[in-house]
Amino acid sequence: MRALITGGHGQLGRALVRVAPPGVQVVALGASECDVTDPTAVRAAVARVEPEVVFHCAAWTDVDGCERQPERAWRINALGTQHVATACLEAGATLVYVSTNYVFDGEQDEPYHEFARPRPLSVYGASKLAGEAAVRAICPRHAIVRTAMLYDATSRNFVTTVRRLASEHARLRMVADQYGNPTFVDDLAHALWRLVAQPAYGTYHLVNEGAASWYDWCLAIVQELQLPVEVEPIPASEFRRLARPPRNGVLASLAAPALGIRLPYWREALARCLAPLRPA
Ligand SMILES: NC(=O)c1ccc[n+]([C@@H]2O[C@H](COP(=O)([O-])OP(=O)(O)OC[C@H]3O[C@@H](n4cnc5c(N)ncnc54)[C@H](OP(=O)(O)O)[C@@H]3O)[C@@H](O)[C@H]2O)c1
Repeated sequence: MRALITGGHGQLGRALVRVAPPGVQVVALGASECDVTDPTAVRAAVARVEPEVVFHCAAWTDVDGCERQPERAWRINALGTQHVATACLEAGATLVYVSTNYVFDGEQDEPYHEFARPRPLSVYGASKLAGEAAVRAICPRHAIVRTAMLYDATSRNFVTTVRRLASEHARLRMVADQYGNPTFVDDLAHALWRLVAQPAYGTYHLVNEGAASWYDWCLAIVQELQLPVEVEPIPASEFRRLARPPRNGVLASLAAPALGIRLPYWREALARCLAPLRPA
C-alpha cells in the first residue's frame, strides 16, 4: 500500500510515519511541499505519489487563532479539505480526514457517539465540520475520524505545556469542569492504520478510553513525572479564552468497537508515553 500524509510534519503526521506497518510506503508532505490551500499543489502531489490512501492531517489547529483570523481557518480547514477531497476523487484514493470533538457543543451530559448532532461553538470547530461536509459530498470512499486532546512527549501540546509551566511556577491553576479524552497520538496512529487495513468507511470516533478534565490530565502528568508543583482546580469561567471549548467534549464510539478497534485507557496511555521521561 502507498499512503500520502498531508500535514506530515505535525504531531499526528509524524506518529503515522513512526508506527506505519511494515511494507507500507509512506510519503509525508509538509505545508511547503503540499499547501492544502493551493488546489494545483494538492492535485500535483496526489498525482505524483499515486496513493491508495490519503491521511489528511493538515489543519490550522490553533483554536484561539482561528477566532482571531476566521478567514484563514476557513481557507485551511474547510477549503483545504475540499481540495484534498477533490484530488482523492480524481485519483481514486481513499481519504481519511481527521476531525475533532470541537464539532459538538458539549451541552449534553453523555459522551458523544458518531451519530450525535454536531453544533460547533468555535470557528475551529465550524471550519473542521465544513471540512467533514466537503469530504462526504465529494469523495465517496472516505473515513472521517474524530479525535480529541492529542499529545506526544515532545510536540507543542498540553503535556509539554504543563512540563514547561511546572518549571516556571510553584502552582498551576487548571480548568476542572471541561472534559475530553486525552489521546496519545501513537495509539491513534495505530488505530488509523488498522482502520484503513480493513478497509473501513464512514464516521468514527477514535480516542483513548475514559474521560478527564484539564485538571485531571494535568494532575496525572504531574504525578507521572513527579513534577514539584501544586495543581489547583478552577472553573472554566475563571479561564477566559477566545474559543469556547465544549464543556463536555467526551467522545464515545459505536462504530470502532464494531470493527474490533479499541484504544487503551487514557491513564495507561499517558504512563506509556511519559515512561522514557520519568525520573529514575
Ligand atoms: N491536536 C489536537 O488536540 C487535535 C484534536 C482533535 C483533532 N485534531 C485534528 O488532528 C489533525 C492533526 O492534528 P495535529 O495535532 O497533528 O496538529 P499539528 O501538529 O498542528 O499539525 C498540523 C499540521 O498541518 C500543517 N498545516 C497547516 N496549514 C497547512 C496548509 N495550508 N497546508 C498544509 N499543511 C498545513 C501544519 O504545518 P505548519 O506547522 O508548518 O503550519 C502542521 O504540521 C488535525 O486535522 C486536527 O484538526 C487535533
